[in-house]
Amino acid sequence: MKRSIPAAAAANFIHPEFVDPSFSRAVIEWQKQHGRHLLPWQQSREAYRVWLSEIMLQQTQVTAVIPYYEKFLQSFPTVFDLATASAESVMAHWSGLGYYTRARNLHQCAKQVVEKYHGNFPADPALLEQLPGIGRSTAAAITAFSYGTTAAILDGNVKRVFARVFGISGYPGSKPIEDHLWLRAMALLPDNGIEAYTQGLMDLGATLCTRSSPACPRCPLQTRCVAFAENRTAELPTRKPKKQPKEKQAVMLVVLHEGQVLLERRPDSGIWGGLLSLPELDGMIDLGKDATLASVNEQALHKMLEKFGVAVTTRTLPTIEHGFTHFKLHIQPVVAELLKRHNEVAEDKFVWMNLSAMRDAALPAPIKTLLLSLPEQSSILI
Ligand code: ADE
Ligand code: SF4
Repeated sequence: MKRSIPAAAAANFIHPEFVDPSFSRAVIEWQKQHGRHLLPWQQSREAYRVWLSEIMLQQTQVTAVIPYYEKFLQSFPTVFDLATASAESVMAHWSGLGYYTRARNLHQCAKQVVEKYHGNFPADPALLEQLPGIGRSTAAAITAFSYGTTAAILDGNVKRVFARVFGISGYPGSKPIEDHLWLRAMALLPDNGIEAYTQGLMDLGATLCTRSSPACPRCPLQTRCVAFAENRTAELPTRKPKKQPKEKQAVMLVVLHEGQVLLERRPDSGIWGGLLSLPELDGMIDLGKDATLASVNEQALHKMLEKFGVAVTTRTLPTIEHGFTHFKLHIQPVVAELLKRHNEVAEDKFVWMNLSAMRDAALPAPIKTLLLSLPEQSSILI
């Protein structure tokens, strides 16, 4: 008969190939001798204090947190004080720490701990994790420091240490790498001394195994560290992959008549908002993954030109590439000479301007460059 593994057991399944008790021994030994012991939140096991410090430390450096932590505890010495405080007062105490969602979640969490747990933070990380603002790693840190519960942390610092020690490439924020790191983190947990081990991992990441200049000569993990042995500390952990800039294309009309060019005022919002530019055929189109340029739609081109007059010649110029923050624009200019132009421009947004006035016109840089490069005597018909 096939039996399914209960979810809790599956989640805690220890991969034997990752087990190595000497790892936690090295971390604990080092933490006792060289780790941090005098941080304000290390002076108490009270879950309320530990929780408060862990939330503050999620996205803020230790030195910035300390004064806030102390002031906060003076004003809200217990979870009951925090739960009954006004939102304004909580926000005022957080003011300057940043990431204000943390403060709103903190307040909600305090209220729930009072309502659901009579003011006692649960010792089970799985229960803590259900409270606002507490993720898996924070839940484990809180229960380890306040109740001695053996559970794995995996914050940014720990990910960096693991990626380097075990030589794990791939962005640690991606799902498969993160899943792998959690399996490692669980397999490496010590049988005893979870507080020193947890603090030791944090201290190693924050004080020795820093992002840009790890102090490998002083590191207790050096003899087992793949990144050190292979001289790969600069490339591990793998940086977040940059999104490929999108590629777009715009066919832009350079409609000329007797030394004048037809310009179009762009809408106030969006790219080149409010500037004068060249009229576009079909706007800016996405080129997709392979970024092959589309050819000019002749039918649409002639239909558009009819709005302005009677065209005699059209010719394409070489494409111009222009980089924006989030995409690259390929401009395909099409020059159209008009034999005759309508007395009225087609719409308000279109204006005729002398080519000689381009230098001072409110044009986007690549458009200005293009227009300035046209032969001064534009019309072949004069
Ligand atoms: N960062 C997150 N938790 C921490 C802690 N308990 N001590 C120092 N830095 C931390
Ligand atoms: Fe980090 Fe260097 Fe220690 Fe490896 S040896 S864990 S890279 S500090």
